[in-house]
Amino acid sequence: MPRPLLVLNGPNLNMLGTREPATYGHETLADIAELCRRTGSAKDFEVEFQQTNHEGQLIDWIHQSRGRCAGIVINPGAWTHTSVAIRDALVASELPVIEVHLSNVHKREEFRHHSYVSGIAVAVLAGFGSNGYRMAIEHFAQLLEA
Ligand code: DQA
Repeated sequence: MPRPLLVLNGPNLNMLGTREPATYGHETLADIAELCRRTGSAKDFEVEFQQTNHEGQLIDWIHQSRGRCAGIVINPGAWTHTSVAIRDALVASELPVIEVHLSNVHKREEFRHHSYVSGIAVAVLAGFGSNGYRMAIEHFAQLLEA
């Protein structure tokens, strides 16, 4: 039986493909979902890929993953830099978390340098584009084998 793995995306990531392509590239969120599902199934994961523009919805999905999913890959978008509530929900899930950003947030505006999630994440990937999601899923496979 494939293990469920949650891949979460925060606000504005539904706009990928047309949103600031110089920063985020031309791939759409559907392309990234497909990449995640393909990568996941090769590693015996059932990827549950979600995106929302509503913070409470993201928190509900995190709560529902507790005791059910193998881990959480999350690109919290702008909530990375603002949300204690998402950090608290991730801690409450008691699941391993990998934080992903398409862009290298550290070479961008100062306000993107701080993340509420990084301090509770197993790993952080920034600047690898959609490859970051692939690497995160593959890393989970290794982690769970170890
Ligand atoms: C992002 C970086 C965030 O600072 C930004 O608010 C996003 C996307 C990224 O994937 O590079 O929405 O998380």
